[in-house]
Amino acid sequence: MRERIEYKTPDQVRVMRRAGLVVADIHGALRDAAAPGVTTAELDDVAREVLDRAGARSNFLGYHGYPAHVCISVNEEVVHGIPGDRVLADGDVVSFDCGAVVDGWHGDAAFTMVLGAADPQDLALSETTRRAMWDAIAALAGGGRIDVVGAAVEDAVAAHAAAGYEPLAVVEDYVGHGIGSAMHQPPDVLNYRAARRGVRLRPGMCLAVEPMLTRGTIETTVLADDWTVVTADGARAAHWEHTVALTDEGIWVLTAPDGGAAELESRNVLIAPLS
Ligand code: MF3
Ligand code: CO
Repeated sequence: MRERIEYKTPDQVRVMRRAGLVVADIHGALRDAAAPGVTTAELDDVAREVLDRAGARSNFLGYHGYPAHVCISVNEEVVHGIPGDRVLADGDVVSFDCGAVVDGWHGDAAFTMVLGAADPQDLALSETTRRAMWDAIAALAGGGRIDVVGAAVEDAVAAHAAAGYEPLAVVEDYVGHGIGSAMHQPPDVLNYRAARRGVRLRPGMCLAVEPMLTRGTIETTVLADDWTVVTADGARAAHWEHTVALTDEGIWVLTAPDGGAAELESRNVLIAPLS
């Protein structure tokens, strides 16, 4: 049996926007605080403080027993890294993934940054993952089926290689998801082309679009902590994510401060924020 998709009313999307803006605030605080010499546990505290100030709840803390407010994944860690006493270092590739719940409605977003003196190939890894995410979000605005996401991500990866950079690989073991009154809902949002086209895009859908790319293999393994996902070959990885609403008027990137206006305008897409 197919699981049911939760179609949101405009009022529900408005509450999700409030959650999305809390997530955006956490990202801003993390970006400002992240630096060589800082521990990942200190950055988890930064996230908790923003959540507390906003009166929002973390959807990560306690999720299947997850012990923190943010996933912080460094270098060969792809996703679900647990904050702790690790000290961040110059040149580290650091992915931050976190969410917030406001009045029962969820936001979820991730970004990657390279600290200090960066390897140009690491910068290219993060930048292409970011571009793949925005291309996929722009593709959602065109309608059709959910497979437009995987096509856009694969096209961005192909363009990256065609431009002469070392090739990147699309992780398939973890995918994006529907989001709303729970953090993870149907449908799955694949970052690669698959045989099945997937569900038709409809107003009221809210989707977390979250490509993960690596500089090596797509194979991943989970560390003994039962959470941290690493590349099997130790290659570095990046992860970008936004929560996106499809409405009758168009699309709205709920976890982006500007609703996605700037990135989507450069892709000839106008956002449609609800008033
Ligand atoms: N944020 C992840 C996702 O993007 C889920 C993290 S689960 C947690 O879907 F338990 F680590 F919080
Ligand atoms: Co997610």
